[in-house]
Amino acid sequence: MSKQTDQFKKVISHAKEYGFVFPSSEIYDGLSAVYDYAQNGVALKNNIREYWWKSMVQLNDNIVGIDAAIFMHPTTWKASGHVDAFNDPLIDNKVSKKRYRADVLVEDYVAKIESKIEKEILKAAKRFGESFDPEKFKSTNARVLDYQKKIDSIITRLSKSLENEDLVDVKKLIEELEISCPESGSRDWTEVKQFNLMFGTKLGASADSAMDLFLRPETAQGIFVNFLNVQKTGRMKLPFGIAQTGKAFRNEIVARQFIFRMREFEQMEMQFFIPPGTQKEWYDLWKKTRLKWHLALGLGQENYRFHDHEKLAHYADAATDIEFRFPFGFKELEGIHSRTDFDLSSHEKFTGKKLQYFDPERNENYIPYVVETSIGLDRMFLAVFSKALTEETLKDGSTRTVLKLPPALAPIKVAVFPLVKKDGLPELASKIVEDLKLDLATTYDEKDAVGRRYRRQDALGTPYCITIDHQTLEDQTITIRDRDTMEQERISIDNIKNLIMNKVSITYLLKLI
Ligand code: GAP
Repeated sequence: MSKQTDQFKKVISHAKEYGFVFPSSEIYDGLSAVYDYAQNGVALKNNIREYWWKSMVQLNDNIVGIDAAIFMHPTTWKASGHVDAFNDPLIDNKVSKKRYRADVLVEDYVAKIESKIEKEILKAAKRFGESFDPEKFKSTNARVLDYQKKIDSIITRLSKSLENEDLVDVKKLIEELEISCPESGSRDWTEVKQFNLMFGTKLGASADSAMDLFLRPETAQGIFVNFLNVQKTGRMKLPFGIAQTGKAFRNEIVARQFIFRMREFEQMEMQFFIPPGTQKEWYDLWKKTRLKWHLALGLGQENYRFHDHEKLAHYADAATDIEFRFPFGFKELEGIHSRTDFDLSSHEKFTGKKLQYFDPERNENYIPYVVETSIGLDRMFLAVFSKALTEETLKDGSTRTVLKLPPALAPIKVAVFPLVKKDGLPELASKIVEDLKLDLATTYDEKDAVGRRYRRQDALGTPYCITIDHQTLEDQTITIRDRDTMEQERISIDNIKNLIMNKVSITYLLKLI
């Protein structure tokens, strides 16, 4: 098993074992690509959402939030282009009968060449030591240049074929690259076909009067259709933004890789409405702002990169992905799109209602342009969780599993232990829990030896553990242990909050961005 697959398997089993993520309806053998967040997972997810929401809505005077319904008038999706253009190119393997996204098969092939480049770089870094310059190596090493040339030519051809809807050429490319089915190993493929990703449903009780609806495939349209309502009632002046978090649904074909690609997932989207002609400047600014938001979490700058799109979606004049190094390689975490006035113009056309803004400075009416930031909450969860999961070998040779979550995102901030279950220690510990609980997510644990209790909290990502012992009864001091350094300090009960509140609150992260 490759190191990557091994690490990813550990992530999935840790998420299940420690109450973060469960397969949906597991007692019925689960439902493919649908997951439930468990007792600790929901807390981590809520904290990520809060960090995003506060960074958008609380910190920016000109961004407000809404919560639009999942059901929308069906014509919305005609106007947005999703009825006609929200398709994936699919291909079936005739032997395994498995269905794949044709572009993903090619991208996975490219990822294999990319990992060969990474291997060459690692080898060279070892060889040259401190003086090694990876950028120079990449631009001069013959083997790496060959690999890169191959990648570029595959990507250019794929983008061109998809853009021209030349699905025959997509199949030809798969055949030329000799891509085989990951399941059966066979290269016997069907033709490539387009498949719409929206889920249909019905509104209304009787079959004849029921209205065909779609479950929203993105939250963004709920923002566009409310643009004028918010602008007028909030007396908003351009530039301003509308933020929203909520569920979206896509009938993904290659729904795999755990919560990376799901059929029901949550998005955190912000549409920033701007005067036409200023989109480049705002697009660049939002790229920087969003990267800073990610970097504040301390998961390592080397784990992020931008991937600018060559093939643009039907609504965009520029687009980039913030990619993250997941256990299975660099993949899209967030999209930043300059969406022009496509959506508002299109809703204007389909509704016959003006969706324009009067700009007092320009003294004219126009349809605003939009720069969008769009991130999957579940994907963000996976990014944080997978990077945090660490196995450490300690000085005594033993190992510990520790979830090094950014403290502000950890589900539980502090765990309180009585050293023993007698002598009034549980009562005092419970009293401390009651007090801490008012400000912090706190848990109480009296089972097993303290060492085992520490390990349990390490695996949950709890940044601090507090132990109450006999000395506490005498001098009102406790031992506080840091998850990452495992160092212990004796402090007064009155100082617990002072010491940890700041480090474990979302405010700590907000100050960094
Ligand atoms: N409104 C623009 C939009 O929806 P997108 O690139 O299709 O753009 C934005 O989606 C983000 O939503 C992605 O970067 C990803 O984080 C998340 N996302 C998209 N499809 C997903 C899926 N099937 N499962 C989990 N997250 C998904």
